[in-house]
Amino acid sequence: MTAVRIGLLGFGTVGHGTWAVLTRNAGEITRRCGCSLEIRRVAVKNLSKSRGDATSTVQFTDDPYSIIDASDIDIVVELIGGLDPAHEYVKRALSNGKHVVTANKELLAVHGNSLFQLAQESAAMIAFEASVCGGIPIIKAMRESMVGNQVHSLVGIINGTSNYILTGMKQKQCSFQEMLDEAQKLGYAEADPTFDVEGIDALHKLTILGSIAFGTPLQSTESIHCEGIGTITYDDITYADELGFTIKPLAVAKRSEAGVELRVHPALVSKHKLLANVNGVMNGVMVSSDAIGRTLHYGAGAGSEPTASAVVADLADVSRAMSCSPDSRVPFLGFQTDALCDLSLVPVQMTETANYLRMNAVNRAGVLAEVTRILGNFGISIESILQKGSGLHEEILPVIIITQETLEEKIQQALKELEALPSVVGEINRIRIEALT
Ligand code: HSE
Repeated sequence: MTAVRIGLLGFGTVGHGTWAVLTRNAGEITRRCGCSLEIRRVAVKNLSKSRGDATSTVQFTDDPYSIIDASDIDIVVELIGGLDPAHEYVKRALSNGKHVVTANKELLAVHGNSLFQLAQESAAMIAFEASVCGGIPIIKAMRESMVGNQVHSLVGIINGTSNYILTGMKQKQCSFQEMLDEAQKLGYAEADPTFDVEGIDALHKLTILGSIAFGTPLQSTESIHCEGIGTITYDDITYADELGFTIKPLAVAKRSEAGVELRVHPALVSKHKLLANVNGVMNGVMVSSDAIGRTLHYGAGAGSEPTASAVVADLADVSRAMSCSPDSRVPFLGFQTDALCDLSLVPVQMTETANYLRMNAVNRAGVLAEVTRILGNFGISIESILQKGSGLHEEILPVIIITQETLEEKIQQALKELEALPSVVGEINRIRIEALT
């Protein structure tokens, strides 16, 4: 029986999960792969830290090069995260002709194009199912099972932490901070949780998914529109609910004649849609394509063993393809490298969505007329309007407006004029509405 020799860089939440899954399910994995997947060494920063049961079965080292440069390692699994030193280690492993499995979405989103080129030059594989949506096999589904389709769009909840926070705020009436603390304790959040709540983690994942969907090189992350969930209040969640919507942290990729639209932002979604019911830390990705139609890919998007499950799946794929000629392997982004096309990114100003607007307005005659006049001047049509008075004649009242589909440029200009009205107090909270047609 052949043994595939694996070296792990990092033994945090996902590293430990990978060891646990490979150890517990060794028999089943071997029956499936026809070889054994064996962890030979694990590189960690701090050798004195306790590693529980793993200590007796795994050799730990604080020298990553004893894995990256070793002749007795076939696959390097990078589970450190972040750009440095992970980038250096992965480059060196690929240059050494080693195959790499990684869960590092930031590394791929930022340096993926050059890493794929390096891997190709070294006839090495780089596999990254665990980088997007934890345990959901979305990359495999899109790259392999949907090979006969033209993808039209992809809309996903691809950050478990922000979904966990918004779901908890609604269901438990908890504050943003309480939910974030819980997500961190459960190991869902990134080392720097601002990556989760500011949409950066989702941006990295969308960059990867967008390229796999449309066969483009990875787009520069700076050119993709990205908003976090930090401005969503409990009031917004409640008003949205009254109007028939749930607020979800979305990542959207759409193909149109103008090019490719990529954006990350929270959005109101009709409560009846499947994605509106993807709750807690769960992720869901809805892909619309010409042959299958719509498919929904749902599962645990974060956490130790769900993510480890994707790492092990990649280890199995790489082990099977190691003996194949590089030409017969599945291409990194699902399209042949020389067939990638550089579709232009549609500027966010040219995108269209319906909108939820919440403003605090002075409670006097004619104020709503001033507000609706400005929207009308920009050609923005109102779908519904809600004013929340308690009957006590308060001086300021919240007004909630749902607009019909509007060009981003127009809504931005209208918001500026609305906020300049003396009868509108403070900033207007605007959240997009995603129709999910
Ligand atoms: N912090 C990420 C999330 C983990 O919450 O989805 C998986 O990438």
